[in-house]
Amino acid sequence: MAEPLRIAFIGAGNSNFGGGEGPWDHASRLEKIGDLTIVGIADLNTSRAEERLSVRRSGPVGGIYAETEIFADFRQMLDKAGPDAVFIGLPPEAHGTARPTKDIELLCAAAGVHMFIEKPVSAAPPEEVAPVAEVLAKAADAGLIISVGYMFRYSRAVAKMKEIIAETPGGVRAVVARYNCAYSEIASKVWWDIRRTGGPIVEQATHFCDLTRYVAGDADLSTVAAVAITGGEPAGRLTDIPDGPDAEPIDADIPPEFRIPRATAAVWRFANGAVGSLTHGVLLHRKKYLAELEAWGDGLRIVLSDPYGPCRLHVRYPGGEEVETLDFADDDPYLTEAEAFVEAVRTGDASAIRCTYADATKTHQLTWAIRRAAEKHT
Ligand SMILES: NC(=O)c1ccc[n+]([C@@H]2O[C@H](COP(=O)([O-])OP(=O)(O)OC[C@H]3O[C@@H](n4cnc5c(N)ncnc54)[C@H](O)[C@@H]3O)[C@@H](O)[C@H]2O)c1
Repeated sequence: MAEPLRIAFIGAGNSNFGGGEGPWDHASRLEKIGDLTIVGIADLNTSRAEERLSVRRSGPVGGIYAETEIFADFRQMLDKAGPDAVFIGLPPEAHGTARPTKDIELLCAAAGVHMFIEKPVSAAPPEEVAPVAEVLAKAADAGLIISVGYMFRYSRAVAKMKEIIAETPGGVRAVVARYNCAYSEIASKVWWDIRRTGGPIVEQATHFCDLTRYVAGDADLSTVAAVAITGGEPAGRLTDIPDGPDAEPIDADIPPEFRIPRATAAVWRFANGAVGSLTHGVLLHRKKYLAELEAWGDGLRIVLSDPYGPCRLHVRYPGGEEVETLDFADDDPYLTEAEAFVEAVRTGDASAIRCTYADATKTHQLTWAIRRAAEKHT
């Protein structure tokens, strides 16, 4: 019988172990997949990693963590723990370029370790990601499995949306993405600083920019136009930002020009002639986000609603006026995404991976094009 797959985590944060505003966490999905063992967790903050490990070891699938070792330096983990694959869940500013310390993907590729990389590929601009993409494309051609965590590509609702679009003569003509994040409880100062994350289009709306591309194909970046309300102007004043340690709003001492935009509106054309738009806000209170993607074709309107929660599709078909609602509330795209990656690593067949590194870099380019277009007007 084959040995269990050896998996390690780089980053002991929320994307890998849970917490924050949403339903993510790769460890819980891996626990469901089985026939694998977690050989290491690397995090600069080793006490955070220890805490995560202790919680998991006392959980129902604690056995897969029996051999897990904690490392401060992921390079030592690659050497000592010998993982077949890593899940990279790091702040976007910490990875995705060829610069020393941020060259994590390049070092994993050089070690022949398969990678699941959380989105976005980096906070750095596309010009700095391009050399990494070039190396990783060659590594993927040579058999390295690399998947980027745009999990909505694995959603059954999105698959159905694509199927309905494909059956509609002329296909998709317009895609409208709306994403309004609830900011009241986002207490990480880094998140509020565009210098650290690349800003909320690059870091957060990236999921929806990616979905527009998944549904309608590549964007023509030369057509991207955008405007934004910046964090430093009167219209950017928010009333419910969490307080920092000094009882001031958490972004109070970030220079105004580097505070994240509060609302961004962008339009562009896709290579296939369809038109796209994104409206993103950091404007809702408490915790629940609004996230919707709408696609129009000749006679067709489909709305993907609440993909982070009880996901539904509302469909008005060509020739009709009725709206049919399809329920996908029981779907877990994070699990499907993890299963596809693990299976690809086991078999060496990458065909079920729905977001390659090359594809993810195109989404990254679209988000940067939107950010830069909006900054022209500020
Ligand atoms: N797909 C999703 O639904 C989803 C959900 C949450 C987060 N994310 C993405 O996942 C990524 C990580 O987010 P998170 O919420 O896990 O962040 P986080 O801040 O909770 O955790 C990141 C961890 O990385 C560690 N770290 C930083 N630099 C390091 C380095 N060089 N080596 C080792 N450890 C290092 C930090 O100490 C921290 O524990 C982000 O890009 C985020 O956008 C995606």
